[in-house]
Amino acid sequence: MFALVLFAFAALVLADPLPVVLWHGMGDTCCFPFSMGAVSDALTKSGIPYVHSIEIGDSVAADEYHGFFGNVNDAVAGVCKSLKADPKLAGGFNAIGFSQGGQFLRAYVERCNDPPVTNLISFGGQHFGVSDIPSCVGTNETLCRLMGEVLGLGAYLPGVNGFSVQAQYFRDPLQRDLYLQQNIFLPDINNEGPTKNPLYKRNLESLKNFVLIKFLDDTTVVPRASEWFETFRWGTLNPASIIPYNETDLYKEDWIGLRTLDTTQRLHFLGCPGEHMQFSLDYLHEEVTLPYLLR
Ligand SMILES: *[C@@H]1O[C@H](CO)[C@@H](O)[C@H](O)[C@H]1NC(C)=O
Ligand SMILES: *[C@@H]1O[C@H](CO)[C@@H](O)[C@H](O)[C@H]1NC(C)=O
Repeated sequence: MFALVLFAFAALVLADPLPVVLWHGMGDTCCFPFSMGAVSDALTKSGIPYVHSIEIGDSVAADEYHGFFGNVNDAVAGVCKSLKADPKLAGGFNAIGFSQGGQFLRAYVERCNDPPVTNLISFGGQHFGVSDIPSCVGTNETLCRLMGEVLGLGAYLPGVNGFSVQAQYFRDPLQRDLYLQQNIFLPDINNEGPTKNPLYKRNLESLKNFVLIKFLDDTTVVPRASEWFETFRWGTLNPASIIPYNETDLYKEDWIGLRTLDTTQRLHFLGCPGEHMQFSLDYLHEEVTLPYLLR
């Protein structure tokens, strides 16, 4: 009898998973049927009751444009508003960020988290930024070429630093001071400046799980180690100088709660074989949906 009651309770919990919010990557949109549309359908088939795929701007074309150009801080603030305004998310949700959407959703958690995220999944997010211009595979060629040209002028130039989205997570290990002064997004969410925002740490530490998926053969993101919160030592672009995640100051001094999550077994490192964002829906189901979204 007791066992039966327990079983019924477990079934109830599994039958009622949280909704899921998606934030797409550069060159993608909320709703392309072959990308976020397919992910959204797969999640729905697995039993996720509701999927909200973030759109920046008021059309799919605007959304695609804003993956390359615009102010990321404004985008995150807008997402904070629109997620709070969605009544189906009022009880909290799980979140999956794809590529740059990974660090943008982390910014949502750190700055707003209302309604709160339970599990945060990062598919190839650049948590320690990029140190080279991302390549244009599978994106709108015109927009992507323009991104490369603008970013090539200098990520930390006024006029570029608030306009090129990729400049806002460009971390040049040869220009530490400029990065810290002129990059308007990444140093802030990483609490790399002299004053640390305690809210960022408190909010990130409130996650049940933070899952970092790195694409093992990624050549789009330089360095791919950024997907596991690893980065170059200051002053060098030598790949052999990548610092293990747990030897960075961000980790050791626990600027954003990463160490706390790690030492309480809530930080997970997954390696997905293949190039940037080349994962199958089966991978999503086995490695993310079953272990994190359905329980
Ligand atoms: C690429 O983006 C530009 C600017 O938004 C748009 O005019 C063009 O139609 C897009 N190209 C494709 C192939 O989607
Ligand atoms: C860092 O993490 C690795 C892998 O989890 C572990 O083997 C190593 O002991 C850790 N190093 C420190 C300094 O904690």
